[in-house]
Amino acid sequence: MSKASKRSFQAYLEMMKLSGVDELLLPSERHVVEEIVETASSPAPAVSSSKDELLVLSETVKNCSLCGELAQTRKQTVFGAGHAKAKLMFVGEAPGYDEDQQGLPFVGKAGQLLTKMIEAISLKRQEVFICNILKCRPPGNRNPLPDEVINCQPFLWQQIALIQPKIICALGKFAAQTILKTTTSISALRGQIHDYQGIKVICTFHPSYLLRNPADKKKAWEDLKQVYRELQLS
Ligand code: URA
Repeated sequence: MSKASKRSFQAYLEMMKLSGVDELLLPSERHVVEEIVETASSPAPAVSSSKDELLVLSETVKNCSLCGELAQTRKQTVFGAGHAKAKLMFVGEAPGYDEDQQGLPFVGKAGQLLTKMIEAISLKRQEVFICNILKCRPPGNRNPLPDEVINCQPFLWQQIALIQPKIICALGKFAAQTILKTTTSISALRGQIHDYQGIKVICTFHPSYLLRNPADKKKAWEDLKQVYRELQLS
């Protein structure tokens, strides 16, 4: 790069900074890790390396064709989004239509409710990490098949290992049963703190279920308060 173009690029960066933009992400990265904006002067090697490794993992997910039907019918994979070192991780079931279109988790109606749930415990979406058990949309939003869960779960285990959250909030039966390796119902799993490799797991109803059964929002609120309390202790 010539000196002149370096100077004009620096001026452009200064201008972006003044208008509140602290970090520029490549378009392909933006999907994956909407990291909390850090100031240019704060070195955060742990976050950066975890973010880089998440980006590498997201490329592997992008190229996955283990579930033939899902690979053929998806528009794109939905890796997950949020902070690379989030203390709190939400895990849902699988992308739906909107998520498949946008390549981002929980962006449809259920996602709007999840955003409210996150904000109810004084957090922002960018401060947590949100992903699903399956990284591809099952056609017609059918339930994930057992083989699909088996194929896809190593990606989740790697995401958890890289992010190292303090708390995992499992949204609904598929997430809770997969993470805890159990067939116990979501109603029975709620209200206790479970363990996944030393990480606390709190189970609650899936936002889509709550949209259909608003009376259970009260119980979900109890679960969120438990998440909040555990976050304060961590
Ligand atoms: N339901 C899920 O389980 N995950 C999404 O990303 C959207 C809806």
